[in-house]
Amino acid sequence: MLDRRKSMKADRDLDRFKELLLSSCGMFFTNERELTLSSAVTQRMSQRGIDTAELYHSLLTTDQDEFRRFIELLTVNETYFSRENDHLKLLVDKIIPEILSQRETRPVRIVSAGCSTGEEPYSIAMMLAERFGEDSGRLFYIAGTDIDSSVIARAKQGIYGKGSFRSMDKAIQDRYFKMCGPGAYQLGDIRHQVHFEVVNLKDALYPAIMQQPDIILYRNVSIYFPPQVQREIFGRLALILNEGGYLFVGATETLQHNIGLLTLMNRDSVFFYRKIPGVIIEERRSAKRNLSPREQSKPGSSRQTNYGGVPAGAVQSGIRAIRAVAASDASSVTNSRDPKSLFDDALELAISRRMDDALALLDAIIEQDGSFIKAHSLKGSIFMSASRFQEAVAVCNAILSHDPLCLEAYLMLGVTARHSGDDDDAQRRFREAIYLKSSCWLAHFYLAEILFGQGDKNRARTGYEAALRVLENGSSLELSREYFPLSYNAEQYMAICRHKLSLLKNG
Ligand SMILES: C[S@@+](CC[C@H](N)C(=O)[O-])C[C@H]1O[C@@H](n2cnc3c(N)ncnc32)[C@H](O)[C@@H]1O
Repeated sequence: MLDRRKSMKADRDLDRFKELLLSSCGMFFTNERELTLSSAVTQRMSQRGIDTAELYHSLLTTDQDEFRRFIELLTVNETYFSRENDHLKLLVDKIIPEILSQRETRPVRIVSAGCSTGEEPYSIAMMLAERFGEDSGRLFYIAGTDIDSSVIARAKQGIYGKGSFRSMDKAIQDRYFKMCGPGAYQLGDIRHQVHFEVVNLKDALYPAIMQQPDIILYRNVSIYFPPQVQREIFGRLALILNEGGYLFVGATETLQHNIGLLTLMNRDSVFFYRKIPGVIIEERRSAKRNLSPREQSKPGSSRQTNYGGVPAGAVQSGIRAIRAVAASDASSVTNSRDPKSLFDDALELAISRRMDDALALLDAIIEQDGSFIKAHSLKGSIFMSASRFQEAVAVCNAILSHDPLCLEAYLMLGVTARHSGDDDDAQRRFREAIYLKSSCWLAHFYLAEILFGQGDKNRARTGYEAALRVLENGSSLELSREYFPLSYNAEQYMAICRHKLSLLKNG
């Protein structure tokens, strides 16, 4: 009874704990995470024999040890070796050798911010040792930090169970780990190459081990922060990053950090941020200034283009969708002969299947305003619908020269590559599209189709499931905003996904 009263009281007072956690660690608690918070409060109150939430709240503000224990109950520490390995491979195979080639003596400094139990920094250490041998201890300084002191203690021990190895090459595991108990493996001497420390990323100052990094891995941490905290911490990390340095966030976290502080780049289909010297940043700013007024007024501007469409076949269905976009944008037309109004005319021409006229008008618009992305996109769409794939590729390249993050262009390039039989390139393009927008169901769908054709059942299943999940969550509604022709309607895409999944289940 007493416990129940305590917990009810804790529930009522949850807001004050939420405020404390948000201001001190950036964590926020909504929906099911509220339950985690209230049970942590109840658990600690009963362990400390404290009756009221007020008392426990005030203890938290004065007793650092209690605060540490409380935090341990609230963090999400999911991690494993070789997670998002394409990031690590790009670093070890390309970026780090480039940094080293311009470096005389100073070690390359790498920070894993929010490293949990250490799998991320240790993965890097092992990969570097594989590539640079014994020199790696001298060439690199690797640090792992986390707010949760219990995971930092475990990281220092370097003992791991089966789950941590789920994505790791078995040969590497055998080379670096020794069994130290039933189902437990300890990392050998290489673990001394990684330095760990408890650090709250919300703190105003970061300790010495985090200073002047050339590379920051800040992956799968910001998902637990609200947008204002994401910006605050990203800004602080950008500040400590060396000039020319690199910052990697998790694939699903990419776009929300594209806030103009660091330059978002794409290399080998991997997206990451780079601290580019000032002059180039200024060039980017002026490039943005040169966007058409219409593009500038679009929320997030063209750098966060948020199209989900793709040219893929039947002109008829695309034309229906074209109307929807034309209608949705019509209200913003102010000047009848500005590029926007000309674009509407081009849409009308495309709708009435006067494709050559539409193309001529689009060329005129692009001549007037080369950064008008929608004009390029419609042009690409018309080429795709007419199976003029080479011309469509040229259009995509033009789009990417203005907006390297245009999702639509990556989708178009994927479809053209598929048509020309280059499945490797197509996969690369669809992966890029997914990096840009993890909920891009068309990219998941096309990727799954390729993998299905290659007999890669597991990954095909994942792709169809991802596409279906997004479509079932209502993204089919987004179809009406797309103005590229699609082969099917949303229901049909869902039916195909379900059918393929049942084949994969039975096969
Ligand atoms: C899901 S793990 C990510 C581990 C690893 N980076 C990865 O991608 O596999 C997120 C980690 O962020 C840590 N974290 C959460 N808030 C933090 C903060 N304010 N400062 C430092 N670390 C924090 C958590 O303790 C947790 O261990």
